Amino acid sequence: MKIGIIGTGYVGLVSAVGLAELGHEVVGTDKVAEKIEKISQGNVPIYEPGLQELLQANLRRGNLSFTADLTSTIATSDVLFVCVNTPQREDGSADMTYVEGVSRKIAENLNQYKLIVEKSTVPVRTSSWIKRTISLYRKRDVDFDVASNPEFLREGAAVSDFLHPDRVIIGVESERAREILVKIYERFQDRILVTNIDTAELIKHASNSFLAMKISYINLMADLCERTDADVEQVAQGMGLDERIGSRFLRAGLGYGGSCFPKDVRALIRIGEDLGVDLNLLKEVDRINFNCVNKTVDRLKKALWILKDKKIALLGLAFKPETDDIRNAPSIGLIERLREEGALLQMYDPQAVENMKTLFPEKKPELVYAASPYDALKGANAALIVTEWDEIKDLDLKQAKDQMENLILVDGRNVFNPAAVRKMGFEYSSVGRK
Ligand SMILES: NC(=O)c1ccc[n+]([C@@H]2O[C@H](COP(=O)([O-])OP(=O)(O)OC[C@H]3O[C@@H](n4cnc5c(N)ncnc54)[C@H](O)[C@@H]3O)[C@@H](O)[C@H]2O)c1
Repeated sequence: MKIGIIGTGYVGLVSAVGLAELGHEVVGTDKVAEKIEKISQGNVPIYEPGLQELLQANLRRGNLSFTADLTSTIATSDVLFVCVNTPQREDGSADMTYVEGVSRKIAENLNQYKLIVEKSTVPVRTSSWIKRTISLYRKRDVDFDVASNPEFLREGAAVSDFLHPDRVIIGVESERAREILVKIYERFQDRILVTNIDTAELIKHASNSFLAMKISYINLMADLCERTDADVEQVAQGMGLDERIGSRFLRAGLGYGGSCFPKDVRALIRIGEDLGVDLNLLKEVDRINFNCVNKTVDRLKKALWILKDKKIALLGLAFKPETDDIRNAPSIGLIERLREEGALLQMYDPQAVENMKTLFPEKKPELVYAASPYDALKGANAALIVTEWDEIKDLDLKQAKDQMENLILVDGRNVFNPAAVRKMGFEYSSVGRK
């Protein structure tokens, strides 16, 4: 069985490498030829721990290859995993243009039975559109199946998540498709859940929206903590000790970002609207998250009154640690808001600077990228913790202190101990803690 991976971004590349590692013969394709060239030479175009080594090992083994030729990938593969992007449209719904385009291409090149697997995050009922599109455009009367196999990997831990999944969801409507996918994921037999396709599609959106809800919920509790003597970290700890709740995703802070949660919450709201189901609960989740950035800017204003011409050090830009991904990162909203206020930004991130430069090119002195956190702190009137990279959590505060003009520290990720930081002379504020 030959597996074709269409789209070699964060999900597609990890899936291609991961499936090759499971022993399958895999070919990956992408419409961006330079990306394919780079990957073919063993270079990973994104920052994802462990991926480059595994890519190189599987390229050497000979069961993994890459081509920019989508037509040949379709023609030579028995199973096609669709891993293209499904970005957010203006109205919040998922943009299915790329999935539709790939479906048409598959239709045009359908030469023998194929199983088309949706790995991208797609709205429930997408499989019927894919089936209809392939039936409309196919040139030959060849049989095919569509299945759903949503991906749950987390950027920053993607390789390990792919190779040690909590669960493998397989949504199918034929025995043939079920057999093929169960065989592909044979190694994870004990963790496979087979459902119908609508269910599998919905599991993905339901999971991401639930996790986003947990984050917004604890951020709401943080607001209550700030108006009382309660401490949000302890509230979260106390809640998390209840096994029904669990402690993960109960970190108050700047809110969620990334290429999944924000867009998936909004897509699910739109799915609800289309299907006549009121998902206002999720609108609140989104609103609470949006407000996190505003509240952080307010904290800075509370400390500095006027932000115009104030040097603000932004420590961390990626939407979370261990990734270079800045899609929907809280840092973007922060940069926009702080620039509107006329602040001068000195920014640092261990991996995400190049990506951020494509959105906000360097413009001295308004917007400067620093080579180290300490460079970013030089002459700063305030520092803002945006992403909890280890390097930032382990910041030498003595050294930081020497660089700064004013010792104002706004901790958007609750990484420092308030008492310890204050003892060093910092004026410190964090989320939901005194
Ligand atoms: N990034 C994550 O952490 C994550 C996790 C789980 C699920 N997902 C979902 O997986 C999907 C992909 O996400 P991603 O982060 O990998 O996106 P991405 O933008 O990193 O990658 C998508 C890739 O598809 C390619 N592509 C688009 N149209 C193509 C076409 N017609 N032919 C060939 N290649 C094409 C793009 O060039 C790009 O390289 C999305 O639906 C996303 O919601 C993402």
